[in-house]
Formats: sequence, C-alpha cells, structure tokens
Amino acid sequence: MPKRSGGRGHREAENMRELAKLKEKSLRGKHVLLRLDLNVPIEEGRVIDRFRLDRALPTIASLRKAGAKTIILSHLGRAGGSLLPVARELNSVIDAGFIPAPLREVHKTLRELGDGGVVLLENLRRDPGEEKGSAAFAKALAALGNIYVNDAFSVSHRKHASVYALPRLLPHYAGPLFVEEVSNLKKAFSPRHPFVLILGGAKFETKVPVLKRFLKIADRIVVVGAIAHAFFRAQGCELGKSRIDKSVSAKPFLRAVKDGRIILPSDALVSNGSAVEGKAVTALAKGDTIVDIGPQGIEELRRALKGAKMILWNGPSGNYESGYGGGTVAIARMIARSSAYSIVGGGDTVTAVQKTGLISKFDFVSTGGGAMLSYLATGTLPGIEALD
Ligand code: 3PG
Repeated sequence: MPKRSGGRGHREAENMRELAKLKEKSLRGKHVLLRLDLNVPIEEGRVIDRFRLDRALPTIASLRKAGAKTIILSHLGRAGGSLLPVARELNSVIDAGFIPAPLREVHKTLRELGDGGVVLLENLRRDPGEEKGSAAFAKALAALGNIYVNDAFSVSHRKHASVYALPRLLPHYAGPLFVEEVSNLKKAFSPRHPFVLILGGAKFETKVPVLKRFLKIADRIVVVGAIAHAFFRAQGCELGKSRIDKSVSAKPFLRAVKDGRIILPSDALVSNGSAVEGKAVTALAKGDTIVDIGPQGIEELRRALKGAKMILWNGPSGNYESGYGGGTVAIARMIARSSAYSIVGGGDTVTAVQKTGLISKFDFVSTGGGAMLSYLATGTLPGIEALD
C-alpha cells in the first residue's frame, strides 16, 4: 500500500484551546459569545432541515449547565434574511430568547440575562461589517461578552468579523463540534489505506485544490456528478446540454485518469427531454443531458470501494434535486455496507444521505460544505488560525 503523507498543514489546529478543557466554574455568570452556523434551509418561514441546529444543541446545553450566559451569533444566507424562524425552532427544544434589534440596542437585554440564559442575536450579515471582516464590527461584538467560542466550523473558511477578527479580542476557545470536525477531517491527511476519495457535485473549481492535494494521498479518487463532465470535455466527448463548469480545465488531471488514480464513470444516465436511459459517456447526442451516474458507473464505483479502509465523500453523483438521486443513494448504500472508516460532508450530499435513513452508518458527518473542502485542500482555515 502506498504510504503517503498529507503534509504539515493540519498542525495549525493543534494549538486551539478547547472549550471542554475550560473549568465549568470559569464560565458561571460569564457572557459567552458562541459563534454557531445556524445557516439552515428555511421555506415559508419554517426550518426544513435541522441538521446543523441539532449538532449545535449539546454545546448550548453544556454552556447552560455551566451557568454561562450564552449569546449565540450566527449568519443566515447572503441576503440578510431573519434568523427568527431559527430562533423559533431553537426555542422549541431549548429555552432561548431572540434579540432582533441591531447590536447597539442589545446591551440592556444582555445585562438582564440570568446565569444559564441563552439568546440568539439577529443575522450577523445584516451588518455589512461582518462579511467585510471589519475590525469595528468585531469590536462591537466583543463588547457584548467576556469569552468567545467558535463552534461554527462550517463558516470558518470565511475571514468574516465574527470568525476571524473577533476571537483575537477575547479569550477564545474551539467548541466541541469544531474540535470534532477537525479531528475527524484531519484523519484524511494520514489515512488508513486503501483510501478512496469520492468527489461529486457541480462546481469543479471548488474541488480542484482538493483533487491536487489528494492525488498525493488517496489510493483512488472517484469523480462523479457534474464535475466529471469537465473531465469528459477535456477528453473531447460530446456532452450535449449537460452542465459543465468551464472555469477550470481538467486537462492537467487526465494523466491521473490514464494511470488509474482518478476513476471516471464510463456511462451516465441521460435525458433527451422525453426519455431517460443509460449511455456510454462517449455516445451522447447534442440534445442529451447527463442527469446522474449510469449503471456501469455504479459498478465501477463498487469495484473502486472494494477493500477500502477509509472513504471520504463530498458531492452528489447527479441532479438529485430534480429527482435523479439514484446514483447518490447507491453510493450511500455502498459506503453504509462497507467496513471502511467513512466520512461524508457537503450540504447537498448530507441532505441526500439523510433522506436514505443511512446517515447513522457513517462514522462522521461533517457540517461543512465549502469549509470542509477548504480544510481538506489546505489543512487549515482562517477560523482555525484565529483560535491559535
Ligand atoms: C455554508 O452553508 O457553507 C456556511 O454557512 C457558509 O455560508 P456562505 O457560503 O454563505 O459563507
């Protein structure tokens, strides 16, 4: 088996101070600014996926038990929507208040918060200072608390004020979920072999840095989903109307395809507008659209996973939102049946796996999408550096 190392990147995370190691008595009566990622899907004013919320609950419960006054900070989307639906959902499981007011008006409410109290502040991104990483906004946030805890791994690839500037202004700690993310994902840098990485999804550009790094680490990388289309294009295949991320060329990776380090499915499920059928990727017509991996591709994937001791998966194999989730479900089943240590991440992938009811069969489910990819590509994140 190849003995490859992922380099030194992940060492940065070893200097993080963990909240769990802080004595409970140091938290009683303290205002703790808890950065969470409660960026959850909302439809018609209701939270439709509680995954991130549920993962955050133990941290909130432990701060409450320690008698801290917990002030939850989060963003929601990019357009400045309200966290009110999230606050309602949170309040249905844990007694938590919501302060919809701008920062300058929250001080009075925070002064009245009792030991063990919990409040959620309105969407941080309503203030332009958050995304700009503004020092002034970080200072305004720091004035609300005594201690900062980052339990928002999934937004820690952003140099935003609450992630990157704020921790430097207060005693800072990594929350339990954050620590769990880092300690699981870093296993991919010195994996048990054979180690198989499955990369899918739509945006090839976001996966390129991961591909580059993991060509040196993984025994096999299986590329599925629309990112595989970039490879088919580089190989000169007709792709009809299929979605392709043309921002980066896959040509530099074709050598790795040739020598078997990167495995591409040889067929696809194809729609021509009236019928859906399996076709070799070399046989597409101009009116065809690839909607998922084909039956042959699923078999090839099964062979690639055989004997794997570690599997890391990010990105669905097809357009599951439009009803083409068969390939993604098949991958979830294969991994669930495998005895390999398994990690899955990425918003769409996790949502799809959750629907299969197989999520508990995975050894670790990351809350991160972009953050997971960024951590895998670089071995660190701005949010990790800020906790140093
Ligand atoms: C995510 O959903 O990946 C995080 O909440 C980060 O959100 P963003 O991509 O809008 O920064």
